[in-house]
Amino acid sequence: MSRAYTTPDIDQPTSLLGGLTPREFMRDYWQKKPLLIRQAIPGFQPPVTIRDVQTLARREEVESRLITQGDKGWSLKHGPFRGFPPKSQPNWTLLVQSVDLHDDESAALLRQFRFISDARLDDLMISIATDGGGVGPHFDSYDVFLLQGQGRRRWRTSSQPDRGLVPGLPLKILADFRPDADDILEPGDMLYLPPHVCHDGVAIGNDCMTLSIGFRVPSQATLARGLLESAADQLSAQHLGDPGLYGHPCLPGPDLSTLYTDADIPATQHPAALPDQLVRSTLDTLQSIRLDEAVAARFLGQWLTNLPDNALFDPPDEPASLSAGVPAQGRIVLDRCTRLMYSGAQVFINGEVADLAASPALEALADHRSLPADSLRGLAPDVLAMLDEWLQEGWAHWDQA
Ligand code: SIN
Ligand code: CO
Repeated sequence: MSRAYTTPDIDQPTSLLGGLTPREFMRDYWQKKPLLIRQAIPGFQPPVTIRDVQTLARREEVESRLITQGDKGWSLKHGPFRGFPPKSQPNWTLLVQSVDLHDDESAALLRQFRFISDARLDDLMISIATDGGGVGPHFDSYDVFLLQGQGRRRWRTSSQPDRGLVPGLPLKILADFRPDADDILEPGDMLYLPPHVCHDGVAIGNDCMTLSIGFRVPSQATLARGLLESAADQLSAQHLGDPGLYGHPCLPGPDLSTLYTDADIPATQHPAALPDQLVRSTLDTLQSIRLDEAVAARFLGQWLTNLPDNALFDPPDEPASLSAGVPAQGRIVLDRCTRLMYSGAQVFINGEVADLAASPALEALADHRSLPADSLRGLAPDVLAMLDEWLQEGWAHWDQA
């Protein structure tokens, strides 16, 4: 049965966070300490069945892993799979990544957590396991909400500083796991873990399903490199005729069209040595290069909305046309795979810069992922034409209901 999930108001206590408001959760727990939440989603029915998870793991474009623990130790295989061990066989687990790209209700479940920015929210992973199944004691580098979907799972966690791993295994398994908390989660219960908290989840019974709401976290090196790449692409676009990935459209920037001069340079006895003056002049040009918000946003917006290879759209045969007249009722809804973000005047969609500048309507569409007919009527023709293109691509859909 399909279920509507709504993102909680940031100042309203919510069962999803054990009675905390999202604001309180972010202040007191996010990136700080674990939180066990009983009945985060009362009466929770997972968006997919155990059989659906197996069906997904057979598909080429779906990322999946099968982990088994037997007499010969840990084994890890990557999908797509043609078959699975029998349900009666203990100690195996199948994990399917990014189920939100493939299933609307899973995407809606993930978006309940949008009190945290889309820049951080990553994917919904779903695992199924038979008795004893799990991925072993380990730690992750990112935050996670572990929501029990079906059956039961025993979670042991530890804030131990020792994160040494067993060498030579196909999985990251802690060499010396010393749990300081031990809880059994039932359907609808949820465990929040900040990065680096050690944990081990073991299925109890043969029908265990766990949903992981995962987050992404860029390294400082990735951010710095992206910023420099964005600035370099802007320079290329302005002066060298090659926009690169982040150069189109061109942002206002410094004029670097003047040529290097060295009228005062003396004769040299070392013609192979790089002239100091040239090195200094190269460094000096950096002073005029703008590393500002717009250039940083250009990298972040394109990079964060860039689609994974397995995000597939289904362009309709007869797309709705808003330019031809906004229907009396209904709403435009972003496809589950579409990534739409904005910063300042820039709007980013699926790795590209949108043709038009940000406006309250586009920002509302990005924040709510839908916009009713009433809010579309009266929008400028170029905005409606751009939305028509998104409808044609299958990046958005017209929902008549
Ligand atoms: C799982 O087994 O479903 C969760 C994996 C994890 O602990 O990250
Ligand atoms: Co983990």
